[in-house]
Amino acid sequence: MSKPVIVSGIQPTGNLHIGNYLGAVKNWLELQKSGKYDLYIFIADLHSLTGKLTAQQLREQVQITAAELLATGIDPNKTTFFIHSQVIGHADLAWIFNCLTPMSELERMTQYKDKTQQLNKTTAGLFDYPVLQAADILIYKGALVPVGQDQIQHVELTRDVARWFNNKYGEFFPEVKHLLTNVPKVMSLLEPEKKMGKSLGLGHVIELCETPEEIENKLKRAVTATSGGEAAPGVANLLGLLKEFGDKNIYDAFVVAEKDGSIRYGDLKKSLSDAIAKHFAIFREKREKLLKDSKKLEKILAKGSKKAQKVADKNMAEVRKLVGIK
Ligand code: TRP
Repeated sequence: MSKPVIVSGIQPTGNLHIGNYLGAVKNWLELQKSGKYDLYIFIADLHSLTGKLTAQQLREQVQITAAELLATGIDPNKTTFFIHSQVIGHADLAWIFNCLTPMSELERMTQYKDKTQQLNKTTAGLFDYPVLQAADILIYKGALVPVGQDQIQHVELTRDVARWFNNKYGEFFPEVKHLLTNVPKVMSLLEPEKKMGKSLGLGHVIELCETPEEIENKLKRAVTATSGGEAAPGVANLLGLLKEFGDKNIYDAFVVAEKDGSIRYGDLKKSLSDAIAKHFAIFREKREKLLKDSKKLEKILAKGSKKAQKVADKNMAEVRKLVGIK
């Protein structure tokens, strides 16, 4: 029996940070390791065209994201790993889906509303973003989509799109489900009420490629408890990170110290920065090597898109027949 197909993508935002890692990448690595799935992971560069990047920035960020994902352990021999603009079919399928998707459904999308507000304008691309995402998933007949909370609405739309297609043209696409895993929400170092993200500023995030010294310095500035003895989101965030990256005994000791009031935030920060630096030591080396060897990187990506193209071609040939185009 064939394995369930899992599809997920990430926009090329340049250096990955620990929020991206714990929120998405770590989960992909676990799915890959399980060996139970046919896994497609790609860099969603076409989606990034809806943003503000220049061509040069986009090119660089795609390179970095590709090298970094490989350096975290995405294995091109186990996972079909590629850049989605390199596969012909995603945008074609999105067009077919456009013709089935009511505008009113897209108007409801919260990410579209948020982005429109942020950019102070909108484009047809931004509006259509979830339809392209549906095509990304369904072109491989993806059944499971591991995403963060903020993408659930898009996966639900994907399920609707598949249903609209199947109702009109006959049963073809599977029922898509999102795969929410136990993902800790990683908060900003400086404003721990907000989700960690680079748009807040680089001081708010820890990037996987940062040196041990950089990590230590960033954590030194991280907000811990403010006065007043309220529950401190900054401390909770640092403890949560130590739980992910640190040794269990050390983590447990800090939790106890937090409870009895003997905790020293300087020590917590030092333990955490050591743990993060250690966790990504091999990553930093691999990243460096891959970015120096652009030929190798290109070869890996070409192999991935070729593999993806085969499946996309097969499914698109059937879709074309079903909808009545040559
Ligand atoms: N929209 C997703 C994000 O910003 C990225 C993405 C594009 C994606 N296509 C996808 C995720 C298909 C899952 C499946 O996080």
